Amino acid sequence: MVSAAPCAIVIFGASGDLARRKLIPAIYELAREGLLHDRSFIVGFSRSSLTDEQFRDECRAAVAEFGRTHPVDDAIWQKLLGRIYYCAADYGTPADYARVAGRLGELDGSHQTGGNRLFYLATPPTQFVSIIEQLGQLVPQDAPVEGVWHRLIIEKPFGRDLPSAKHLNGLIHRHFREEEVFRIDHYLGKETVQNLMVMRFANAIFEPIWNYKYIDHVQITVAESLGVGSRGGYYDQSGALRDMVQNHMFQLLALVAMEPPAALDAQSIRDEKVKVFRCIRQMRQAVIEQSTVRGQYAAGAHAGVSTDGYRREKAVAVESRTETFAALKLHIDNWRWSGMPFYLRTGKFLEKKLSEVVVRFRSPPLTLFQKQCQSPVFPNDLVIRVQPNEGISVRLNGKLPGGQMNIQSVAMDFTYSNTFQAAPPEAYERLIYDAMAGDQTLFIRADEAEAAWEVIDPIEAAWAKSAERPADYVPGSWGPAKAIDLIERDGRRWLHTTGEAEPIIACSV
Ligand code: BG6
Repeated sequence: MVSAAPCAIVIFGASGDLARRKLIPAIYELAREGLLHDRSFIVGFSRSSLTDEQFRDECRAAVAEFGRTHPVDDAIWQKLLGRIYYCAADYGTPADYARVAGRLGELDGSHQTGGNRLFYLATPPTQFVSIIEQLGQLVPQDAPVEGVWHRLIIEKPFGRDLPSAKHLNGLIHRHFREEEVFRIDHYLGKETVQNLMVMRFANAIFEPIWNYKYIDHVQITVAESLGVGSRGGYYDQSGALRDMVQNHMFQLLALVAMEPPAALDAQSIRDEKVKVFRCIRQMRQAVIEQSTVRGQYAAGAHAGVSTDGYRREKAVAVESRTETFAALKLHIDNWRWSGMPFYLRTGKFLEKKLSEVVVRFRSPPLTLFQKQCQSPVFPNDLVIRVQPNEGISVRLNGKLPGGQMNIQSVAMDFTYSNTFQAAPPEAYERLIYDAMAGDQTLFIRADEAEAAWEVIDPIEAAWAKSAERPADYVPGSWGPAKAIDLIERDGRRWLHTTGEAEPIIACSV
């Protein structure tokens, strides 16, 4: 990869958590790898009153604490330091934008960026609308100059339902063409998520069996071992369905379920993902009650953290019905997946941090072993581990060495760390680089976000109408018992439920 074109990176919400933990460290790593142009500069924009110097100190501390590589390389840092600036400004005040526009103009000139600008909206979503309304002041409205670009990266959540997503898209399109909009979903920047497409479309062995005829079901788990921490204020307005399912989990689902794209470009790939969302079967209230589960973590302790329960978290309403766990059974009504269920679950304070896709194949057609074994043989699983221990494994049935016919589940395992001897880069490095390079493949298109909300909205509406509260679950468990029942009543089971090892099957052959 070569360094992207020089540009100004303008970060809204520059003193916030996301900028500190992810964006600034990612920009530093890009500089370290020679992927940030030497003339690119960064302007932090937020309400905190900081000088350039103070902001630079904060950035340095962020890189030291959250950077992927240690220690901070002083030579690289010194080169970056003089290209970091800060503007204290109020997001809703037009005069502040005029001041920032003036400063940006000067900096464009002194750094010779040609006027390329990358705006990064890393503020809480409640600020999006007022910033976008003012952004016109920072984007020249006259005819575009050949080769000069203005792009917008916007964080999730992209709206909180279909009408608000449409409204946001409408506002954005007043100042930016769709080719200039980069709706971020950091899961798409994860190596393992990108590898899903390579695995499916660069190998011939999976495609013939990648359908309802050979696959029994797909299960996607995105589990977190901690609670909402200091994000209760945001989270209570959102919940697991909006925070994780509409975006990260649906992206995983789309990459597993989509048809081969016509080409590996942004339009073709995103066209296929949209089709998946459009084919997800809409559910009526009664079906939603049967096919979805909500949970809320109760008091307890796990992973070294204790909690008085979700409703006692800071900035969470004591009567809150917001779910910290969600499980769904979905159907994709198209030729490839007809009749075959997809089970999704995600939650806070679950047994461990783990994101994975399990493609569970059908059992062998002939019950050769079943007849003489004490229990049915294990189904084959293709397990795509998004994190941690990134990799792919295929679970097969193998004979245990010895005189008896004992069967055990064994794994053919590929792990990134063993094969490539390196940890994959952080998702934000890849995504910020792609936005500077103008590649939208790993970003969400307007119609994609809207199609995903079309699936989510009826579920949210049914949950809001329901008299039932989310079921309590104990921190450190795999969520409410109902979520286990959701899959087990179909004669299936989650790959991880209780942590017990799979037994050896003894056969009298
Ligand atoms: C964010 C959610 O998008 O993803 C958080 O808002 C969640 O609630 C986080 O914790 C999980 O990301 P990762 O990369 O740690 O799996």
